[in-house]
Amino acid sequence: MAKSRTVFFCNNCGYESAKWIGKCPSCNQWNSFVEEVIDKTKETASVWSDEGIIKEPVPIHSIEHTEENRIPCPNKELDRVLGGGIVSGSLVLIGGEPGIGKSTLMLQLALQLTQKVLYVSGEESEQQIKLRANRLEHTHSDTTYIISETSIEKVFNHIKQLKPEVLIVDSIQTLASSRIESVPGSISQVRQCAGELMQYAKTTQTPVFLVGHITKDGSLAGPKVLEHMVDTVLQFEGDPNMVYRILRTTKNRFGSTSELGIYEMQSGGLREVKNPSEILISQRDVGVSGVTIGATMEGNRPLLIEIQALVSGAAYGTPQRSSTGFDSRRLNMLLAVLEKRTGLKMGVQDVFLNMAGGIKVDDPAIDLAICVAVLSSLHDLPVDEKTCFASEIGLGGELRAVNRIENRILEAEKLGFTTIYISKYSKGIDAAKYKINIKSFGLLKQVFGDLFG
Ligand code: TYD
Ligand code: MG
Repeated sequence: MAKSRTVFFCNNCGYESAKWIGKCPSCNQWNSFVEEVIDKTKETASVWSDEGIIKEPVPIHSIEHTEENRIPCPNKELDRVLGGGIVSGSLVLIGGEPGIGKSTLMLQLALQLTQKVLYVSGEESEQQIKLRANRLEHTHSDTTYIISETSIEKVFNHIKQLKPEVLIVDSIQTLASSRIESVPGSISQVRQCAGELMQYAKTTQTPVFLVGHITKDGSLAGPKVLEHMVDTVLQFEGDPNMVYRILRTTKNRFGSTSELGIYEMQSGGLREVKNPSEILISQRDVGVSGVTIGATMEGNRPLLIEIQALVSGAAYGTPQRSSTGFDSRRLNMLLAVLEKRTGLKMGVQDVFLNMAGGIKVDDPAIDLAICVAVLSSLHDLPVDEKTCFASEIGLGGELRAVNRIENRILEAEKLGFTTIYISKYSKGIDAAKYKINIKSFGLLKQVFGDLFG
């Protein structure tokens, strides 16, 4: 019988310990240790053997510098978040809540690539994947190979035979190595399988995509070590009830982390959204109060977003505050500023706030648009539909400058807005350069006065 030993892993950061401890010495998390059994006899053997490659240290000056070899990605939004193409030998992790569309995105990528792709699924059978593929546009289905498999050893056998140019694993939590006794999805299994896949990616220069599940609190399931191991971490997010999906980079060794891709989930799969602002603000009735447009930035991309506020007298005691797509604590702060600095009686009002399209916004530049939407709804005064806003609000009711104001102004101008309200503390703006009317103010009160008299 194989000798096995028991070890304890921190669920949060993957710290390993011989005995159970209450508080992780590495990440200070309490009660995060779980017991796992590791088969000692086979632990050191690697499945993806180096196949006789013997490496020696080389002087750094003798290493030839070559640009990373990138496979152009036909999926333009994905291409953008990856930093321009799929880098050879890179390990990319895609995380997201169940049902958000990770499998769809990966299958679509497999079908779009002209390269030979092996799609390993531990969650669905070949028939189920075929059913899904039938809904998608398949341009290169002859180069897409599917296998439903959960054993990493068997996966490597298939890889050796097929020699794919791109590997997709859906999901890393369903893979298991027979050399470890713990169940699939446990920390040691995830770490082991990801480690072997990394070795495979680096030795053969094959790009590998890993789909990863997300835990209840929104972090990638399995330990943080997974995030350390891979080259790129992408987050796929959005409200599953809404059609828009956002692909975000949270780590990228081969590009910027401030990139963003937007998709729309349709009956035929994910469609790339090339000009998100137009969609987010298209369905608008003129002359409705409580609706404003905020000029935000998502990564490097300016995005104009519609904000809807509904303010109505609180009928039953404690007023209700509810916000979708925006931090409710920040909303409370803005309401307090409105009460204190502009004299609005917010304490007796219910306030509901909604960001159009199910987008989550954490750019403070949206503050001004929110305050104006609240006031507009409170007094039932519509805001001109060709006006937008870009400023943070301070606790003193002052307008604060925001980053990349020029990009925001340009985007607003491009989309046909005629007026933009910004902070007068914004630096280096040459108003004569733009066709759009730029109104700069120092205080929230002054903006209200200018808008509504
Ligand atoms: P899926 O890719 O299975 O999500 P994940 O792998 O992240 O769990 O996405 C499933 C959802 O997408 C499901 O609710 C159905 C929907 N969907 C469409 O709307 N259109 C399509 O063409 C496909 C394939 C799925
Ligand atoms: Mg899936």
